[in-house]
Amino acid sequence: MTDESPSNVVGRAREVELLVAALDSGAHVLLEGPPGTGKTTLLRSVAAEEKTDFVFVEGNAELTPARLVGHFDPALVLERGYGPETFVDGPLAEALRAGALLYVEETNRIPEETLNVLITVMSEGELTVPRYGRIVAAEGFRLVAAMNPFDAVGTARISSAIYDRVCRITMGYQDAVDERAILDLRAPGVPGEWGAKVVDLVRRTREHPEIRVGSSVRGAIDMARLCGALARRRGVDVEDWTVGLDAALVALSGRIRLAESIGRAPEDVVRELYVAVFGAEPREDSGGDDPGGA
Ligand SMILES: Nc1ncnc2c1ncn2[C@@H]1O[C@H](COP(=O)(O)OP(=O)(O)OP(=O)(O)O)[C@@H](O)[C@H]1O
Ligand SMILES: [Mg+2]
Repeated sequence: MTDESPSNVVGRAREVELLVAALDSGAHVLLEGPPGTGKTTLLRSVAAEEKTDFVFVEGNAELTPARLVGHFDPALVLERGYGPETFVDGPLAEALRAGALLYVEETNRIPEETLNVLITVMSEGELTVPRYGRIVAAEGFRLVAAMNPFDAVGTARISSAIYDRVCRITMGYQDAVDERAILDLRAPGVPGEWGAKVVDLVRRTREHPEIRVGSSVRGAIDMARLCGALARRRGVDVEDWTVGLDAALVALSGRIRLAESIGRAPEDVVRELYVAVFGAEPREDSGGDDPGGA
């Protein structure tokens, strides 16, 4: 996933204000919201505006304390022994020394022992590394942890010890107007009304009774870009019905999670929603009428 660094944030004035104020007040922050709701975009933009350095960590099951904090270089240790010159900073040590923002994505996926390191740092403002010594947080160090409440891997595991040490800002899906503006920003040149339909289709995946988790605005961005590329290859208009359907299937079928007991394929549900928004397939044999449609 390569989300390009944003030059600006659409909407989110309230969240930006709350985040800036929370960081100013010295708090660590938990950004909680479904995937693609702009958590990373928001933090990047705030960090850039405040001219704060930030260190980015992808949270996953392999993020051990050593990977987060740092480790001793075995070859150098053989030569010179344990000490600051043989220690290789991980993202946490780097952020502590620099007084930077440490942004941890997918915090709910990281192992318990690594969460405990974060708890210690938040409580003490410093870290003790065996055979190295103390690393004290420089002025400005803050932890911003992002978390997705739909993630089955275990929001429950985020202990109350973490919740008790952070301020929490929730990020829901934005409204249709903002999502349309995001689409314009990330997939420029999308025709007006057609773009609104792409956004409508993606938003419907969040309300469909058979879908447990719908697509984020990322689905709309991918669908619009894919339509452009497919239409060029096929030598047809971006608004071509079949191009749109193919792009919807490819961009959305993997992004939606159907409710457990549903026997349908995700492609089937995407097609149903596509027809609901873009209309039934235009018939070319309906003599007289203009084929192709709008
Ligand atoms: N308010 C916004 N303004 C501009 N772009 C946005 C906004 N919200 C989302 N986007 C765009 O949507 C995509 C997803 O946003 P982002 O990566 O910030 O979401 P996220 O909440 O960090 O997702 P995840 O939980 O998967 O990490 C990006 O391409 C981003 O540029
Ligand atoms: Mg993110």
